[in-house]
Amino acid sequence: MAQEIHNDQIKNLLSSVVNNAPYGMIAIDNFDQIVLVNEQAISFLKLDVNPNDLNELVIFDQIKHVEQLYLKLNQIVKNQYQDFNIDALPFDDKFLNFRGRKIKEGYIVTIEDITRDKEMEMVALNSMLEGQELERRRIAKEIHDGIGPSLSTVRLLLENVSSENNRLDNAKFSTQMSVIFDMIDSLTGDIRNISHQLMPKLLIDFGIIPALENLINRINKAERIKIILFHSILSERFPELIELGLYRICQELINNSVKHSSASEVQVQLIEHPDSIILMVEDNGCGFDKTSVMKENPGVGLINVESRTNAFGGNFILDTAISKGVTATIEIPLEK
Ligand SMILES: Nc1ncnc2c1ncn2[C@@H]1O[C@H](COP(=O)(O)OP(=O)(O)O)[C@@H](O)[C@H]1O
Ligand SMILES: [Mg+2]
Repeated sequence: MAQEIHNDQIKNLLSSVVNNAPYGMIAIDNFDQIVLVNEQAISFLKLDVNPNDLNELVIFDQIKHVEQLYLKLNQIVKNQYQDFNIDALPFDDKFLNFRGRKIKEGYIVTIEDITRDKEMEMVALNSMLEGQELERRRIAKEIHDGIGPSLSTVRLLLENVSSENNRLDNAKFSTQMSVIFDMIDSLTGDIRNISHQLMPKLLIDFGIIPALENLINRINKAERIKIILFHSILSERFPELIELGLYRICQELINNSVKHSSASEVQVQLIEHPDSIILMVEDNGCGFDKTSVMKENPGVGLINVESRTNAFGGNFILDTAISKGVTATIEIPLEK
């Protein structure tokens, strides 16, 4: 008797777990008949079944409208019920992950609603694109407003010199020419700066460390903040996209420390491990409250850092609190 009560309790517990799980679950027996289905599965897949009356319901008759799952199950039946995964299947107004697993008594399929993750991904992607668009616009404006007019001025000056050539004495001629040379030099500098912003030449030619050293030197000269780079990079070069990604991430994080933190010092560390590379950017500034910044003024900068990291299958951890400084850690896996 005691044993029976115990069994009942276990049964109740199990059915409560199944019905309250955050996943949809469907179990079928070795004859493809549904032996268990919870409310979540019914609601995710819009099934027309009664979970308490599953008399001889064959799974294939119930899921025809979820075409990809139907096809997948048909396929695995032919292959002695292998495990399967379907990721981010759009169905109804949701995105669903499916996991199919063989068990002794038959087969189970779990269904996870990942609509929210998917939406967050879209937000991140959009802000990355938005960030790139802003950057392009800024550079276009710099070319248009900076280089365009300077070139027109050089042209005008040259016209002047050539039309007045006969009347200009040597001294005046060389003064005018030296104005023109100065303008051309400053234009060359402007072009170098813009092209550097588009794609740092050092990064392409010599890799991440020289490029970062150069970036940091330039900021150390221009700003009051002191930026220090430590690194243990043994490989000479990494895949181009990883180098560019790390550089952009570093640029954004350092920029944030310069712009927002009032820190006196920023430490940048780049450590190479056998199968990953870790970037840490740490400032001793004012820090911030993540929750309220996310709510009140989420910028695209940090979202971009996150989506860039995710694009490499990496991890981004932002550790900060008011008056605790900011430590950003990025780990990017390396395929060797
Ligand atoms: N190193 C930092 N120190 C203090 N506050 C920071 C730091 N980095 C980011 N923040 C805060 O987080 C916000 C979002 O940063 P971000 O996404 O880079 O956008 P943006 O820099 O364009 O404002 C900033 O506006 C700032 O309030
Ligand atoms: Mg920023």
